[in-house]
Amino acid sequence: MRRSAWPPPAARDPDLRVELSAARNKHIWHSVQWRMFGHHHHAAHSGDASTRGRLIHWARFYDPCVTLLTLGRAPAMREEAADLAAIQPGESVLEVGCGTGELARRANARAGSTGLVCGIDPSAEMIQVARAKADRAKLGIDFRVAAIEALPFASGTFDVVLSSLMMHHLSDDLKTLGLAEVRRVLKPGGRLLIVDMKRPSGGLLSRLAFPLLIHGEMHHTVQDLPPVVEAAGFADITSGDTRVGFLGFVSARVPVGDSSSGSADARGDSPRFAQPPGSC
Ligand SMILES: C[S@@+](CC[C@H](N)C(=O)[O-])C[C@H]1O[C@@H](n2cnc3c(N)ncnc32)[C@H](O)[C@@H]1O
Repeated sequence: MRRSAWPPPAARDPDLRVELSAARNKHIWHSVQWRMFGHHHHAAHSGDASTRGRLIHWARFYDPCVTLLTLGRAPAMREEAADLAAIQPGESVLEVGCGTGELARRANARAGSTGLVCGIDPSAEMIQVARAKADRAKLGIDFRVAAIEALPFASGTFDVVLSSLMMHHLSDDLKTLGLAEVRRVLKPGGRLLIVDMKRPSGGLLSRLAFPLLIHGEMHHTVQDLPPVVEAAGFADITSGDTRVGFLGFVSARVPVGDSSSGSADARGDSPRFAQPPGSC
């Protein structure tokens, strides 16, 4: 009599079956995450910038989702980020991982007509939504499709770099690469402000929100960032809580005597300022 070929002999091993089952569950969870949240590593959508960061491709639903997850506190959350960055009229500001441009919009209001505001995101859909919103509001913000690890700007371009809810989209090595790029494009004395998720403290909301927002690679939270920021060459590092329970911040500065930033190089083209807003 022919022996059944299935399951193969190796799969009859109980230990192997446990491993196979765990692998299958992991695969199912990743597939649910991908379908629900559209996160993925590669530039699978045309027009995206190439990155190993996790992109968002549900740009049209992003703002309502954030409103829901923050229980309507999203506008206050962005105002607080702009406050923490202390953006002054006339300053040049870059938001990395700008998504639909909500924080960049607030930065633009503070930098005023003499200031310059850019936003980059590797997701072409996010940038499309950000540009459409800025165009409707007649704001001259320069939104570009790009990744934090390859910023298309000359060294020493910006007074301030903002990162809101973005760092947890990067693996640890990408955080290091990205922060080195951020330091490069900041002027000596330039400021970095990061707002991101904290470890759940026990509150019901943070416990519910965390597994939804967390991604496969998010081993670390905003509380783990200060040493990474310091290793990237920043000084005056401060961290703390925000008024939104599950978010914290890290702020830092490029040392004033830093010779590795602030000198123009041929790496990037100058920001919007050479081109009409939103056309880059
Ligand atoms: C949760 S959203 C945050 C959007 C916006 N900053 C906000 O506060 O609502 C994270 C963004 O990071 C972007 N992202 C992923 N990898 C990135 C990378 N390597 N460089 C810059 N942004 C990245 C995603 O596409 C996504 O739009």
